[in-house]
Amino acid sequence: MRVLGIETSCDETGVALFDTERGLLADALYSQIAMHAEYGGVVPELASRDHTRRLLPLIQQVLDEAGLTRQDLDAIAYTAGPGLVGALMVGAATAHGMARALNIPVLGVHHMEGHLLAPMLEEDRPAFPFAALLVSGGHTQLVEVRGLGDYSLLGESVDDAAGEAFDKAAKMLGLAYPGGPQVARLAERGDPGRLRFPRPMTDRPGLDFSFSGLKTHTLTAIRKLEAAGELDEQARADVARAFEEAVVDTLVIKCRRALDQTGLKRLVVAGGVSANARLRERLEHECEKRNARAFYPRGRFCTDNGAMIAYVGAQRLLAGEHDEPGAMQAVPRWP
Ligand code: KG4
Ligand code: ZN
Repeated sequence: MRVLGIETSCDETGVALFDTERGLLADALYSQIAMHAEYGGVVPELASRDHTRRLLPLIQQVLDEAGLTRQDLDAIAYTAGPGLVGALMVGAATAHGMARALNIPVLGVHHMEGHLLAPMLEEDRPAFPFAALLVSGGHTQLVEVRGLGDYSLLGESVDDAAGEAFDKAAKMLGLAYPGGPQVARLAERGDPGRLRFPRPMTDRPGLDFSFSGLKTHTLTAIRKLEAAGELDEQARADVARAFEEAVVDTLVIKCRRALDQTGLKRLVVAGGVSANARLRERLEHECEKRNARAFYPRGRFCTDNGAMIAYVGAQRLLAGEHDEPGAMQAVPRWP
C-alpha cells in the first residue's frame, strides 16, 4: 500500500510517501520558521496561509521524486490534531479532497503518535514493547508502548513542555525563535560549575514533570547577573548551560525511573527536543548502565515531518481504519 502523508499542524508543511513493502519512498518539508521568527513565535493565521501555498507543490514534489502520479496512491493520511486549528484544516481538507477525487481511503492521525513511532522509519528500529519519552514544543510525556495504539501514559508535564521551556529561556537570553537549538549552542560555551538550577519534581516519586518554575528561576538568575553588571557573553552562556543541564537532568532522572518501574529495556526518545545532543549523550550513558538501548528518529524526523504521519497512517489503514467520506477532522486539542 502506497500512502501519502500530510503534516500541517504547526509551522512546518511536511509531505511524504510511505510504501508498506518498500518503506519510505520520498519526503519533503517546508519550514516556516524564518517567516515567524520576526514575531518571536508562530502566528497562526500566517501559518495556515503558508500551508495553503506550499502543500500542493510539495505533494507534486514527492510524487515526482518517487516517479509516481496521484493515480498510484492507495491512501492518504493527514495530521488531524492536536495543533493550530486553521493549519490542521489545510491538511485535512486537502487530504479529504484528494481522497474523494481519487476514490481512495483517507485517515486522520494523532500528531503525537507520529512522533512516538517516528523511530520505526529507521532500519535499526525498536521492537515492541518500549518506553518512550516524547519531548516537543507542546508535550512532555513518558509513555509505555506495547503495540500500535496500545499506549499508557506513565507521566507528563503538569505545566510547560520541555521545548516550550527551551523557547522561553531563549527569549530571556535574547535568542531567536525557535530557541531550543540556540540555547543548546550557547550552552556549549557555558561553564557547568558556575550556576546550578533546580531539577523540578525529582525529589518525590512519580513520573510527572514541571518546567514552569525553571523558567522563573532562569529569569531571576538573569536579572541578578544584570543587576550586578555581570551579564556578559560568558554569563549568558553559563545561564544557558545551567538551564540545559537542569532540563536534561530532570528528563534523564524520569526516564531512568520509567525504565526501572516498567522493567523495559528499550527507550524511544522523540519530538523536537530529542535532537538535543546533551540529552542524547546522557541517555546513552544511562541505558548502557542498565543494559538497555535508546532509539531515536534520524535528525530531520525528530521535529515535525510528513514521514511519521505517512507511517502511522499506513499502519492504521492496514488495520482497516479510515475516516468516513467527507468527515474531515481538525482537532486542536486532542489528549
Ligand atoms: O516536535 P517539534 O518540532 O514541534 C512540536 O510538535 O512542538 O518540537 C519543537 C521544539 C521547540 O520547542 C524547539 O525549541 C525544540 O523542539 N528543540 C530543541 C532542540 N531542537 C529543537 N530543544 C533543545 N535542544 C535542541 N537541539
Ligand atoms: Zn511535533
